Amino acid sequence: MIENSGVVIWFTGLPSSGKTTLAIHLRTVLEQYGKKVILLDGDQLRTGLCADLGFSEKDRTENIRRAAEVARLFCGEGYVVLATFITPFATDRAHARKIVGTERFREVFVQCSLATCEKRDVKGLYRKAREGVLHDFTGIDSPYEVPAQADLVISTDQASLKESVDVLSKEVLKFLT
Ligand SMILES: Nc1ncnc2c1ncn2[C@@H]1O[C@H](COP(=O)(O)OP(=O)(O)O)[C@@H](O)[C@H]1O
Ligand SMILES: [Mg+2]
Repeated sequence: MIENSGVVIWFTGLPSSGKTTLAIHLRTVLEQYGKKVILLDGDQLRTGLCADLGFSEKDRTENIRRAAEVARLFCGEGYVVLATFITPFATDRAHARKIVGTERFREVFVQCSLATCEKRDVKGLYRKAREGVLHDFTGIDSPYEVPAQADLVISTDQASLKESVDVLSKEVLKFLT
């Protein structure tokens, strides 16, 4: 890796699996090590840059393409980019890796059973999807393709938040040195 270049840590996982929570905690740790960090979150992008997109397969692909392009720009400026997007399709994850450049990209699969994610239901969207009010919801009526070759797997239904953040921080710091 080129010295002082940025990197992109791409979190993928079901809604409520823990992507945003892990990234927020990781950011705190990395900042303590003096790293320049930016958090790029799916919810943020969908209210602005990607507000014109929906949840069809085509729109999800475009959503990820834009996110990866933004990540690439910050990466080029030396940031550690923490990108948190469901990214349900393997081809989109591969495309994001290609856009950023494989040397600077690490995929973190935030693994959590659908049952636990649904129990957490952080934003109440699983309930809406089950009620049929919300359509094309990942895990319910839109697929999530489980990553076969993630660089790191964090199982948030097996470990506490603290344990998960510790493992994640250790691995990411290793990648940065
Ligand atoms: N080990 C863990 N890692 C991350 N989150 C966890 C863990 N255990 C429980 N949680 C909880 O799961 C929820 C995950 O929500 P969130 O981070 O918003 O998910 P996502 O961004 O993937 O939709 C939070 O309420 C968080 O406190
Ligand atoms: Mg989130």
